[in-house]
Amino acid sequence: MCDGPGRRQGAGWTRTPGPCPGKGRSDVTMSLCILSGSAHGRLGRSIGNALGVEPSVCYVERFPDGELRPTVGPLHDGDVYIVQPTGPPVNDHLVELLLLIDACRRAGAGRITAVIPYLGYARQDRRDAAGQSIGAHVVARTIATSGADRVIVVDPHTSAMETVFDVPVEMITAVPVLARALGEHIAESTVILAPDLGAVKLAEHYGSILEKPVVIVRKTRRSGSEVRVEEVIGDVDGRPVAIVDDMISTGATIQAAAKAVVERGALPDLVVAATHGLLIRPPIEGPAFPLIGRILVTDSLPQRGSSDITLEVVSIAPLLADAIDRLHHRRPMDDLLTRR
Ligand code: R5P
Repeated sequence: MCDGPGRRQGAGWTRTPGPCPGKGRSDVTMSLCILSGSAHGRLGRSIGNALGVEPSVCYVERFPDGELRPTVGPLHDGDVYIVQPTGPPVNDHLVELLLLIDACRRAGAGRITAVIPYLGYARQDRRDAAGQSIGAHVVARTIATSGADRVIVVDPHTSAMETVFDVPVEMITAVPVLARALGEHIAESTVILAPDLGAVKLAEHYGSILEKPVVIVRKTRRSGSEVRVEEVIGDVDGRPVAIVDDMISTGATIQAAAKAVVERGALPDLVVAATHGLLIRPPIEGPAFPLIGRILVTDSLPQRGSSDITLEVVSIAPLLADAIDRLHHRRPMDDLLTRR
């Protein structure tokens, strides 16, 4: 487990990075190593616990100018899984991941899988205007060139994510796990709402698990924190609504969708389920999410809890542990994958 930047032990380190503890050798020749960056140590530990693997030790040193330098122990040809979501601060966590991959390669890892539960820059999968970059492509190329042999992501913004990587990508879905939790908070007459056209497939997946109809909002984005609802497709009058999305960043999308459906007669106190809760708070007075009674997210990113929303965090550690176990033992994982 990486000691995070800022907790630098420098020349006076008291712990020597140990070898990859692994899980012994069974039907596969490489031992299983779990290594967690500083972005979300708790998730890395939970995955290790679920797999019965003691996480490998690593340190991340931060230099006065902001540079990072991780150190990992010997990895003895191990099958290494580096757990590091690239949420805020996105660029620091991304660079740390790249350096960790390189460090593992140089420390003798046999195979490296980057486990990136939340992948920053995934929304930049195309150019909206001339002169822009395609951030998702740049990030994907850099992860592969750093030495990752494979990548695991959870509910990426688009299933086209697979095509921007030069290495195999396993796109795991948290929808069944979240739908189970969401089922506890919905009524017989609830409709599932896709807050934009990009979320329709996701909403259909929830709808099929929960056996509920799907309603769609057509939105346009004005800026990073401003969206406009153009149309609501489907009947919400007098019904409870559950909004589902891949992520909540500023919350502009879910708030605009909630307002639009409540104006069309939906019952207030909506429930929202989203895989990734960035929950970047806009600087506004009053409750952050009026009209929304409860938000369910996974622990793909660290969550701090909040006094002004009812936030329920569903762990995906067992899901990621299952995916890692299957990859390690070369077992099929089709039922864990995102619907295309
Ligand atoms: C956009 O297409 C995504 O699926 C999310 O709806 C969006 O990124 C959420 O961002 P925000 O919470 O800032 O509206």
